[in-house]
Amino acid sequence: MAERRESIHGQWSGRWAFILAATGSAVGLGNIWKFPYITGENGGGAFVLVYLLCIAIIGIPIMIAEVMLGRRGRRSPINTMRHLAREEQASQLWQYLGWAGVVAGFLILSYYAVIAGWAVAYIFRTASGSFTGATADGVASIFSDLVSDPERLLAWHTIFMVCTMVVVARGVRSGLEKAVRYLMPALFVLLLVLVGYAMNTDAFVAGAAFLLTPDFHALFYQSNAQGVAELTAEPLLIALGHAFFTLSLGMGAIMVYGSYLPRQASIVKTSVVIALMDTLVALLAGLAIFPIVFANGLEPGSGPGLIFQTLPIAFGHMPGGAFFGSLFFILLAFAALSSAISLIEPAVAWLVENHGFTRIYATVWIGLLSWLLGVGSIFSFNIWSGEEYQLFGKTFFDLLDYLTANIMLPLGGLLIAIFAAWQMRRSSCRDELGLTDGLVFKGWYFLIRYVSPVAVTIVFLNAIGLLTF
Ligand code: PFF
Repeated sequence: MAERRESIHGQWSGRWAFILAATGSAVGLGNIWKFPYITGENGGGAFVLVYLLCIAIIGIPIMIAEVMLGRRGRRSPINTMRHLAREEQASQLWQYLGWAGVVAGFLILSYYAVIAGWAVAYIFRTASGSFTGATADGVASIFSDLVSDPERLLAWHTIFMVCTMVVVARGVRSGLEKAVRYLMPALFVLLLVLVGYAMNTDAFVAGAAFLLTPDFHALFYQSNAQGVAELTAEPLLIALGHAFFTLSLGMGAIMVYGSYLPRQASIVKTSVVIALMDTLVALLAGLAIFPIVFANGLEPGSGPGLIFQTLPIAFGHMPGGAFFGSLFFILLAFAALSSAISLIEPAVAWLVENHGFTRIYATVWIGLLSWLLGVGSIFSFNIWSGEEYQLFGKTFFDLLDYLTANIMLPLGGLLIAIFAAWQMRRSSCRDELGLTDGLVFKGWYFLIRYVSPVAVTIVFLNAIGLLTF
């Protein structure tokens, strides 16, 4: 049995605090902004089905593994991996898995804060009544005015990044935990109100059918640059990547949160609860958004602006819309905040542990660098949006998103699964999970040892063109 360690950064006050914080990390822009727009771009129901499968057989088992590693190591992901590798007599190279996570978190935060800045901007837009009675065209032009103005985007990006730094600097208990306790339930209730609104539009059935009826042709045949439908497996990688992104897996965020988890809490139960809540929020967001898309003749595949061009229409027409609308964007900004703090926590914890930085100093450094990189994403929507600034047909923002969500997170998750199932002793896993050698443990072990690694490898090789069927 490993000696009982404590994290030097403190601990959650209990199991529920961890569930709230990890759900806070998981539920964010990924659920409400990204899930609907990538579902729209990839044909709807079949994509959702693949995504749900990825969550069930890959996401949940890897989440259990990641929390388990974090709680056993009780340090930042880099030091946790180094320490566990030594304890389990595995190669010291495993610490680079921790490093990859720190880098991924830093890269994701840079563009995440830009989009979160849009949500903050929309709090004020909605509150000022700009959307009252607005048409789809009016709402679209308000959106394009915002994203084509780099100075305004920079201001919102800066405001969001400063808020993130303030919360992280305050530490595990007083900062992170307090921020999520009331916000998550409120966001959930407001999403229900929006679904209620969508139910009253004529297009509710069409929207729900788009989200829930699988059409595999629409998933696998997508238009290429010439507008010709081509067979592609890339949507599978996007669904897989999004399963990691939405559950905050593969980069140490959940590992570092796990390192603050009290010893008695059940890792399996908490992971399942977190994944279920996260999935529910994404599906509710889809159910709120697609009926509005169809009721207003909008294009489901219109990309990252989708929620900013649909929900304001609803707010513009419902009674009390300015109030509900601003409340919604406030909660969205907070959901983004509770995810953003988990994106820099691994790097901050490492600087504190290894370089003697104070928490505040570490946060300021990481936040500042990530803020600077974010400027590239800001320009992707305006002065760098032209083809001459693109690589592989992608803007700087698209490239960062693709690299992190579709490549770094799945690879990080794959390595976490391999470490847990092939490098750690089976008895260490059982000890940390607090399980007997019964069905639950055996089922998890099988998924993590064979199913997740094989599935991630196949999807990955296939999508990057090294394996064709
Ligand atoms: N899970 C967050 C979301 O869905 O918005 C994004 C995220 C947070 C990804 C933390 C990765 C991470 F480590």
